[in-house]
Amino acid sequence: MTDHLSMEDLETAAEILRAGGTLAFATETVYGLGADAGNARAVAKVYAAKGRPSFNPLIVHVPDLEAAQAIGVFDAELLRLAQAFWPGALSLVVPLRPGAPICQLVTAGLDTVALRVPGHADARALLRAADCPVAAPSANPSGQISPTTAAHVLEGLSGRIDAVLDGGPCRVGLESTIVGGTPPRLLREGGVPREALEACLGHPLLLATSDDPIIAPGQLRSHYAPRAPLSIGSGRDDHVVIGFGPEPCDLNLSERGDLVEAAARLFSCLREADDLAQQRGVPISVPLLPMEGLGRAINDRLARAAAPRD
Ligand code: TXA
Ligand code: MG
Repeated sequence: MTDHLSMEDLETAAEILRAGGTLAFATETVYGLGADAGNARAVAKVYAAKGRPSFNPLIVHVPDLEAAQAIGVFDAELLRLAQAFWPGALSLVVPLRPGAPICQLVTAGLDTVALRVPGHADARALLRAADCPVAAPSANPSGQISPTTAAHVLEGLSGRIDAVLDGGPCRVGLESTIVGGTPPRLLREGGVPREALEACLGHPLLLATSDDPIIAPGQLRSHYAPRAPLSIGSGRDDHVVIGFGPEPCDLNLSERGDLVEAAARLFSCLREADDLAQQRGVPISVPLLPMEGLGRAINDRLARAAAPRD
């Protein structure tokens, strides 16, 4: 099969999805590895390509809110968030509508489903052309850094997937924020900052606890991991230093200290730092960012990258 497709090939890409293949495609957050969410064999190929150790539930991508409501049942608060933030970097976990065309492998047998309308216009055009809901985890081998360019996707998955539809570098650069349940809980920090969600709801968002029934099984603490060891906020000598703000470093997330720019650059910086660390035979040092806006989501990803490996 082809390993690379240009944007003109949207129809071909949609056909790969309809025919039960695996297609990597750009969203504004990270590249996803997509398959028809109603086709268990196709979804199984996604798990196989990623080498996922367990069947975590996947996010289902649809072109608009109407398509989402055909699959899930939205209460008033989650509907309000969908209306305010879709298309965008927010996934909503809602009860699965009985009879919705979603195979059990996608939901890991749960009676809920995570839904998202992506903000990338090409992604929505693809979803319209494919005319099926598309289950898509990030398009990287399990445990590795999420891809924010088509080249990153091929570095990790070349030969294991049918194609990648190149939609350019991802604008947001962090996976979607995940919210779910009644009342709504924050399940994962991500591309939409918590403050924006709370401003929309008019009250603070509850945080999920580890015994929360809505929390998916099999969440790995070590994730997004580079090959080199990584330490947070310490050890600058004999390290590849990732910086933030005007400071001396090997790679800077944002010289002007902008959290949005830092999010967009995070995963590419980690990849570049990892290559440098391999060349020099030293570990990586990353900063602790301000715990506000996208800073919390970035710190979450850095903590996972630094966690002891499973
Ligand atoms: O930005 C993103 O969210 C990217 C792009 C491709 O859309 N996708 C992504 O998917 O990050 P993935 O597979 O890495 O994250 C899926 C996570 C699961 O690990 C789980 O935490 C949550 O979504 N999830 C999915 N379905 C769920 C459910 N029914 N209940 C609770 N959590 C769920
Ligand atoms: Mg992922």
